Amino acid sequence: MSFTVPPAPPARPNRCQLFGPGSRPELFEKMASSAADVINLDLEDSVAPDDKDAARRNVVAAINDIDWGSKTLSVRINGLDTAYWYRDVVDLLEQTSGRLDLIMIPKAGVAGDIYAVDALVSAAEAASGKEKRLGFEAIIETAAGLAHVEEIAAASPRMQSLHLGPADYAAYMGMQTTHIGGTQSNYYMLSPNEGEGERQTHYADPWHYPHVAIVAACRTHGLLPVDGPFGDFSDPDGFKAQALRAATLGCVGKWAIHPSQIALSNEVFTPSEAAVSEARAIIAAMEQAKKDGKGAVTYKGKLIDIASIKQAEVIVRQAEMIAG
Ligand code: COA
Ligand code: MG
Repeated sequence: MSFTVPPAPPARPNRCQLFGPGSRPELFEKMASSAADVINLDLEDSVAPDDKDAARRNVVAAINDIDWGSKTLSVRINGLDTAYWYRDVVDLLEQTSGRLDLIMIPKAGVAGDIYAVDALVSAAEAASGKEKRLGFEAIIETAAGLAHVEEIAAASPRMQSLHLGPADYAAYMGMQTTHIGGTQSNYYMLSPNEGEGERQTHYADPWHYPHVAIVAACRTHGLLPVDGPFGDFSDPDGFKAQALRAATLGCVGKWAIHPSQIALSNEVFTPSEAAVSEARAIIAAMEQAKKDGKGAVTYKGKLIDIASIKQAEVIVRQAEMIAG
C-alpha cells in the first residue's frame, strides 16, 4: 500500500439510477415505487428548452410532495454553459424541504466547474439555514472531462460519484456513432489474414478506456464509479452485456432510462450468492493458510494469496452493504 490510503466511497447502494424527464411528472410516482436505488429527476437534456421552467417547478414539487422512501434522490441540473443552471440550484435549495440528497452536474470539464456549483450551493444552503449538505455527482461526457477526470473527482468533499455519459462523450470526441452506449458495429477486430476460411469478427469495447479512467479516479478519491445510459431499451441482452463489462471493470451500478432496465441492473450489480460463497471460501482458505504460516496456497487447483483476500472482500463487502 502507498503511504496515502484511498478514502472509502459512500456506503450506500447505487446499483441502478433511474432517470425521468422533469417535464413528465406522471412518471414520478412510478419512479418512487420502482426498485432503483437512486432516482435522478432530470432538468437537462431530456427536457426541451421551452419546458425548462415548468420542469423545474415539477421537480421542486415532487421533491417536497412525493414519498421517496429510502431512495437516494438526485436532480440533474443544466450544464454550466447554459442560462438555466444557477436557477436550478437556487430553486432546489430555496424551495425544497431537505429531502434532496444529490445534485448531478453534467458535462463536467474541469475542477472549476464543480467548485463553481459548490460555491453557489454552499451560499444557498447557508442562506436557507439548511443543515444537510448536498452531495454531488458528475458526468464525464466530454473530451475535457476525460482529460481532467482526476481533478474533477478531487474537486470537492461533496463529490460522491462519477458517471460515463456515452452519448455526449461520443459527440464531444467526434466518434462516428449515433447509438447511446453498447456495441458499435464499426468497432471490431478481424481474426488474422492468414489461411483459408472466413475471418471472424470480434467486437471490441469503445467505452473501455473512459470506464477505466473513471474507475481509477473514483477509487483514488473515494467516489462511486457508475456506468451511464444504454439507449436501446428494447435490447435487454445488449444492456446486460454492457452492464457486466462495467461491473467487471469496477463500476458499482448503471443508469436505467426505462423501467425495463431496472431489474437487469440490480441483478448485475448485486453479487450473486455463488460469488459471495466463493469469496467467503477464499477468505476462509487464506485464514487457514495464515495459521499454517503460508502466504500462498492452492485453492481448487489455482493460486490464491494475500491479494485474493482483498479481491474476495470487495465482493463480500458489496453484498453486505446491499443487504444491510
Ligand atoms: N421511469 C418510470 N416509469 C417510466 C419511465 C421512467 N423513466 N419511462 C417510462 N415509464 C413507464 C411508462 O409511464 C409506462 O407506464 P404504464 O405501463 O403505467 O403506462 C411504462 O413505463 C412503459 O413505458 P413506455 O411506453 O415503454 O415508454 P414511453 O414511450 O412512455 O417513454 C422514454 C420512453 C424512453 C421516452 C422514457 O422511458 C423516458 O423518458 N426515459 C427517461 C429519459 C431520460 O430521463 N433521459 C435522461 C438521461 S439519459
Ligand atoms: Mg449528456
